[in-house]
Amino acid sequence: MSDKRPWGGRFIDKTDQKVAQFTSSIDFDSRLYRYDIKGSIAHCRMLAKQSIISDDEAAQIIEGLQEIEKEIESGEFEFDRDLEDIHMNIESRLIERIGNVAQKLHTARSRNDQVALDIRMYLRDEISNILNSLHNLKKVLVRLARQNIDVILPGYTHFQHAQVILLAHYFMAYYEMLKRDSARLEDGLKRINASPLGSAALAGTTYPIDMEYTARLLDFPAVIGNSLDGVSDRDFIIEFLASASICMVHLSRLSEEMICWSSQEFGFIEIPDAFATGSSIMPQKKNPDVFELIRGKTGRVFGNLIALLTVMKSLPLAYNRDMQEDKEPLFDTVDTLRNCLDVLNILLPRLKVKREVMDRAARSGYMNATDMADYLVRKGMTFRDAHRCVGKAVSYAIEQGRELHELSLEELNGFSELFTEDVFEYLTPEQMVNRRLSKGGTARTNVIRAIEAAENDLGIEEL
Ligand code: ARG
Repeated sequence: MSDKRPWGGRFIDKTDQKVAQFTSSIDFDSRLYRYDIKGSIAHCRMLAKQSIISDDEAAQIIEGLQEIEKEIESGEFEFDRDLEDIHMNIESRLIERIGNVAQKLHTARSRNDQVALDIRMYLRDEISNILNSLHNLKKVLVRLARQNIDVILPGYTHFQHAQVILLAHYFMAYYEMLKRDSARLEDGLKRINASPLGSAALAGTTYPIDMEYTARLLDFPAVIGNSLDGVSDRDFIIEFLASASICMVHLSRLSEEMICWSSQEFGFIEIPDAFATGSSIMPQKKNPDVFELIRGKTGRVFGNLIALLTVMKSLPLAYNRDMQEDKEPLFDTVDTLRNCLDVLNILLPRLKVKREVMDRAARSGYMNATDMADYLVRKGMTFRDAHRCVGKAVSYAIEQGRELHELSLEELNGFSELFTEDVFEYLTPEQMVNRRLSKGGTARTNVIRAIEAAENDLGIEEL
C-alpha cells in the first residue's frame, strides 16, 4: 500500500499510531471543510488563468472538489485521522477520485497559507452570524425599554440603593454596551479580511501567481503584504477572542443582575418555567440556570483568549505546529458566544417584570436624600449645609423606622424652616427621575429620545 501521507516522500518508517493521533486535528478542523474547498477552487482557477496548470486539469480538479463537498455534506465522507487534518483529508480524497491530476492542486501553495486562509474565511462568516444575533438582542433590549418606560426601580452603587432610575434606562445601558460590542467585532473584520493565499510555506513562491485574483474570487478586499506574517500571525483571532470576552463581560453582568432580581430577596422579575429548573431535593426551588450558565461560560471564553495569547507568545516566525492549537479556543468561543446571545434573545422578552415590587423598592432606602438636599439648595441653603441637615433627618428617620417622605412637615421643620408642603411632591420617584435631564440621564424624555434613536438605528417600527 502506498503511503497515505502527502508529505511521506522523505520518510522510511510509518508514523507511530500514537503520534498520528496526537498530531491530528481532523476531529475539530473538519468544520473548515467548506472554506478549504472554496479556497482550493479559487487557487485552482488562478493556477489555470496563469497557465501554471491547464484549463482541462483545473476543470477536473474543481469538479472533484465539488463532489467531495457533496460527500461531506451528505455524511458519506470518511475522515481519516492518519491524514492529520482537513486539508490532507480533502486532497487525498481528490486523488482517489480523479487520480494523478489532483496532485497539481497543491502547486504554489502550502498548508500554512491554506489554513490561514480557511480560518479567516470561517471567522468572517461567524462574525457576521454573531453580529446578527447581537442585532436581535439589541432589538430585544430596546423593545423592553419601550414596554417598561413607566417602571421605576432603585439604581445601585456598591450594590446599595443609590438613586431611582427608569427600568428602560437600565435596559438602554445594555443596549449601549452591545452597540460597542458590535462595533468592535465589525472593526476586527477589516483586519481579518485580507487574503494570505500565496504566502505559501513562508517565503512566497517562484510560480507566477496572481494573489489579487484569488483574493477577489474569495471576496477579500486586500492581500497580506508579507508572506511570513501571512502564515504566522493569529492576531486577528486573538482580537476576536478579546472582543468576544468583552461581550461576555456584558452578558455576565446582565445575568448576574437577573439572578439577583429573581431571588426571593429582590423579587423584581420572574423567570418563566420554560427557562428554569427545579431541585431534585428541594421542592420549592426554581433556579435561574440559563443566567448562571451564561455567567459561568464567561470563564471559558476568557480562558480561550488567554490560551491563544499564551500559545502565540514567543513563537518564532513563521509557522509552528503550536498554532494548530488556535482552532479549539476559536471554535469554542464562536459556539459559546452565539449560544449565549441566542438564548438571551428568547429568554429576555419572556421575563415577567414585577413593577409593583420595583416601585415599592424605589420608595424605600432613603434614595430621595440627595433630592431633599437639592431642594434645600434651591431654597437658598449651601450644599454643604443641606447635606448635613438631610443627614440628620435621615438618621432621625432611621431611628423611627420611617422613610424621609414619611416624616411630617413639622418634623422636617425641626431640621430646617425652609421645608414647605411642596417637598413631598418634590421627593416622589417620578419627579426625581424626571428632573435628571442632563445628557444621558434617566429623565423620561431623555430615555424616550434614546429609545427612538435606537429604534431608528435598528430599523424597528414603532409599536
Ligand atoms: N493542521 C495544521 C494547523 O492547523 C495545518 C497546517 C499544517 N502545516 C504544517 N506545516 N504542518 O495548523
